[in-house]
Amino acid sequence: MGRRVSPMVILLCIAALLAASCSSSQAAQSQGSFADNFSIMWSENHFTTSADGQIWYLSLDKETGCGFQTKQKYRFGWFSMKLKLVGGDSAGVVTAYYMCTENGAGPERDELDFEFLGNRTGQPYTIQTNVYKNGTGGREMRHMLWFDPTEDFHSYSILWNDHQILFFVDHVPIRVYKNANYTNDFFPNEKPMYLFSSIWNADDWATRGGLEKTDWKKAPFVSSYKDFSVEACQWEDPYPACVSTTTQNWWDQYDAWHLSDSQKMDFAWVERNLVIYDYCKDTERYPTLPVECSLNPWD
Ligand SMILES: *[C@@H]1O[C@H](CO)[C@@H](O)[C@H](O)[C@H]1NC(C)=O
Ligand SMILES: *[C@@H]1O[C@H](CO)[C@@H](O)[C@H](O)[C@H]1NC(C)=O
Ligand SMILES: *[C@@H]1O[C@H](CO)[C@@H](O)[C@H](O)[C@H]1NC(C)=O
Ligand SMILES: *[C@@H]1O[C@H](CO)[C@@H](O)[C@H](O)[C@H]1NC(C)=O
Repeated sequence: MGRRVSPMVILLCIAALLAASCSSSQAAQSQGSFADNFSIMWSENHFTTSADGQIWYLSLDKETGCGFQTKQKYRFGWFSMKLKLVGGDSAGVVTAYYMCTENGAGPERDELDFEFLGNRTGQPYTIQTNVYKNGTGGREMRHMLWFDPTEDFHSYSILWNDHQILFFVDHVPIRVYKNANYTNDFFPNEKPMYLFSSIWNADDWATRGGLEKTDWKKAPFVSSYKDFSVEACQWEDPYPACVSTTTQNWWDQYDAWHLSDSQKMDFAWVERNLVIYDYCKDTERYPTLPVECSLNPWD
């Protein structure tokens, strides 16, 4: 049992806390924390933060969407962020959260994507992941989620090392992209990547294959972000670190080269219940399946 505290003391404490948070300049601290690590790629006026600077809002209207990116590049590590997606009628709206070697769709880019495809009110969001190496993607998977991603924040993370790329939702690995041999052509591992996020309109393909169009009367569409966290090797030009294969970083160590036993159980559950589309099973599209499809995610 704790010490009894009079209600008056509690009120005074709350008042003091409020005063403290109101008087500490919102601009200084909040802008500070975002501006230290991120820059806005386009449409600054579609980007806002909460008063304490800890939550970021990206909005899409008929004019434009917007996006941000990290200032730093990283090679290998753990990248995580919490997102709360556009609620209500979000058909045609795509929130992307991804890593890429460049700001643009260049022909030699490597890219690891999470894309959240909006839907009509009450219809489920779909999460699409993809992997690009040297400009070539076409490695889509689509999953259902086991919760409504518009109701609350959930974490979406990527583990990237020379042996595997894992896509996580709330610490459940939903996708395993293996590298059997780290000289392999299909596995992005040479170039450092930035982390990006953006919101945009894709009603030509996103929802039910483009059948459901965006209802602009419902704009603006807003996605929220918080708790960015990175444990990764920061790339420094022109003398990059992150090139040693003998680093002591946990994400490069043996335990991070394959799924742990508990991750295997979670992943088995995902595979049984949540996969909507897997390019490695699409023999109509790929009569000869891409070489990485033969790799065993359980190894
Ligand atoms: C964020 O920015 C600060 C200040 O530049 C830097 O020290 C820190 O390493 C950055 N964090 C990440 C995760 O890149
Ligand atoms: C990457 O792709 C470009 C063409 O888009 C090609 O010219 C180049 O040889 C490729 N590089 C590697 C390492 O495969
Ligand atoms: C890995 O790739 C290199 C270069 O392509 C090749 O010489 C080697 O045999 C491969 N090793 C395995 C285990 O596949
Ligand atoms: C949207 O809802 C429909 C109907 O439930 C579903 O078939 C579809 O997979 C959902 N997601 C997308 C992105 O279309």
